[in-house]
Amino acid sequence: MAPTEPTSLALISYPTHPSAVSENPRCAAEAQVISRTTGGPITGSRLVTDLRALGVTPGMTLLVHSSLSSLGWVVDGAETVVLALEEALGSTVTLMMPAYSYDAPEPSEWENPPVPESWWATIREEWPPYDGRWARSQHLGVIAETFRTQPGTLRSPHPSLSFSARGPQAPTLVGNHSLENAAGDGSPLARLYDLGGYVLLLGVGHDSNSSLHLSETRAHWPGREEMRSRKGKWVREGRVEEFLLLDFNWHSEEFGSLGKDLESETRSVSIGPVGISESRLMPQRTLVDFGVRWIEHHRNKVPDPPSA
Ligand SMILES: CC(C)(COP(=O)(O)OP(=O)(O)OC[C@H]1O[C@@H](n2cnc3c(N)ncnc32)[C@H](O)[C@@H]1OP(=O)(O)O)[C@@H](O)C(=O)NCCC(=O)NCCS
Repeated sequence: MAPTEPTSLALISYPTHPSAVSENPRCAAEAQVISRTTGGPITGSRLVTDLRALGVTPGMTLLVHSSLSSLGWVVDGAETVVLALEEALGSTVTLMMPAYSYDAPEPSEWENPPVPESWWATIREEWPPYDGRWARSQHLGVIAETFRTQPGTLRSPHPSLSFSARGPQAPTLVGNHSLENAAGDGSPLARLYDLGGYVLLLGVGHDSNSSLHLSETRAHWPGREEMRSRKGKWVREGRVEEFLLLDFNWHSEEFGSLGKDLESETRSVSIGPVGISESRLMPQRTLVDFGVRWIEHHRNKVPDPPSA
């Protein structure tokens, strides 16, 4: 019998042709990132240099909000970014990132996409209890999710607005998290404030700046008392228990204008490139205190009378 021909490498097809790439939306999105990346791929050492130039210094306690694609094409992606942050901050690094997830979603409120009304009861009944050991974070990006799953990262005990942290200050930051007023004085955001921490917006704008929710909870403005409660189930120390969340409605749609005013009025925000992104570093106390004053001023404004 004739020996079997070894498989020829030429027979394996790779999606290198432009039309093949564009058929897969994820490949097409990554191809766009590659085409926007000038001056070679973004390496870990370049990220460390850029982060230090922005003002990230060893010993800082840092809350990071991020977008991987905005940095340009990074060699090995999210892992490289997390390692670069750790290197830029040194051995005393404490990093924190959001780890928000769905707790007990209300299917009647889903819009994008909606589900048939006849499914609502089944979804409510069958939705598994929240388990913070493995519940994925939602809509926060691959860097935050990679950080959450890194060995040794702690996660705060909140079924929807948790934060993850690693480093010497991590137990202080995420050891407790109040179920009432999740972004308020019993939250990791408030512990970051106590510690004099910093916020890094890595290629994202102030609309992702969660610390401004702490400002909202500390400011006095009309509508502040409108509390909303939500029940659900979660796993606590191996047992399924009910939880009750109590929060008021937040208004992050104003955070972009608030951030612009913070930058022009306080000059406390360091703005510069990290990879190909425009990134921002700021002391969280200045941010939160400015946010309280801004919200009290803008949300208490008497509306102009209707023109005749
Ligand atoms: C929503 C958000 C995460 C989207 O950013 P994004 O860059 O598109 O998404 P990710 O950070 O998950 O990066 C993944 C994308 O990077 C690109 N990518 C893939 N490999 C890459 C690489 N090696 N280098 C760079 N980009 C790469 C891909 O386009 C990928 O998209 P895909 O997952 O659809 O394939 C971001 O806009 C945001 O809002 N971040 C802040 C979130 C936050 O902290 N919010 C607080 C709420 S108050």
